[in-house]
Amino acid sequence: MDMLELKNVYQSYHKHKPILHGITLTIKQGQFVSVIGPSGAGKTTLLRLFNHMACPVSGEVWVGGLRFDTLNGQKRRQVQHRVGMVFQDFCLVEESTCLQNVLNGCLADMPIWRVLSGHFPARVQEQARAALQQVGLAEQEHALAASLSGGQKQRVAIARALLQKAEVLLADEPVASLDPMTAQQILVLLRKLQRQEGLTVVMNSHNVEQAKKFSDRIIGLREGKIYYDAAPEQWTEQDFVQLYGRGIS
Ligand SMILES: Nc1ncnc2c1ncn2[C@@H]1O[C@H](COP(=O)(O)OP(=O)(O)OP(=O)(O)O)[C@@H](O)[C@H]1O
Ligand SMILES: [Mg+2]
Repeated sequence: MDMLELKNVYQSYHKHKPILHGITLTIKQGQFVSVIGPSGAGKTTLLRLFNHMACPVSGEVWVGGLRFDTLNGQKRRQVQHRVGMVFQDFCLVEESTCLQNVLNGCLADMPIWRVLSGHFPARVQEQARAALQQVGLAEQEHALAASLSGGQKQRVAIARALLQKAEVLLADEPVASLDPMTAQQILVLLRKLQRQEGLTVVMNSHNVEQAKKFSDRIIGLREGKIYYDAAPEQWTEQDFVQLYGRGIS
C-alpha cells in the first residue's frame, strides 16, 4: 500500500522564494526512507507536508490513501493522528515524568476535562507503560524527562508516537544531538519498530553512513528538487559527492 505520496508539490513560505519545486514521490507502507541533502535543501519542509505543518502552494499530498492537503477539521485531525513526529531536540515536557510525556501522545483523543485534570484511564496508562517497555524504558516511568540522557529522551519521544498509534514516523534528524553509540541504538530501535510493527519511517539526516546502513531507500534533495532517489546500494560515492558538492562556493 502507498502510505505517503506527493504529486507535483510546490511549496513556498514567502511569495517569491519557492522552497520545493515540483516534488513527486511515493512511499510504501513499512518503508524506511532517509532524506538527505545540503542544509536548506527543503528536507524539513518536505517532512512537514505530511503532518500539515507545511502546506503546498500547488500539487497534492496524500497520507494513507487520503488526499491530505485539502482536508479540514476533524477529518484532517484523524489523518494527522496517523503521523507521529520525533525531533532532534526531542520536544518533551522536561518537568514531567516519562509516563506523562508518553501519555501526551494521546491528548488529541481525550475529552478536554481529562486533559485539564491530567487523569488518564487505566487502560491508556497501561498502553503508555507498554510503549515505554517497547523502547526499553520500563524502569524509568517515574523519572523526570529533565533527568534523562539524550538517548533516553528520544526513546520517550518514540514511545509517545507509539501511544498515538502512529503508522508513520517522521523523524527530523532524530539522532543529530546524540553520541555515535547512542545514535546507533536509536536507529536500531527505529528499524526494529519499522520491521516488527510495520511502521513507515521517513528520516531526515545529515549522516550518509547512517542513511546507507538503516534505510531501504535514500532520497537526495537539493535546492527543493529530488536529485536522486534510489536504494542505498545504488548510490555511488560520486552521487553523494555531487549531491553535496556541486555549486558550493
Ligand atoms: N517557517 C519558515 N518560514 C520561512 N522560511 C522558512 C521556514 N522554514 C524554512 N524556511 C526556509 O526554507 C528553506 C528550506 O528549509 P528547510 O528547513 O526545509 O531545509 P533543510 O533541508 O531541512 O535544512 P537543514 O539541513 O539545515 O535542516 C530554507 O531556505 C529556510 O530558510
Ligand atoms: Mg531541516
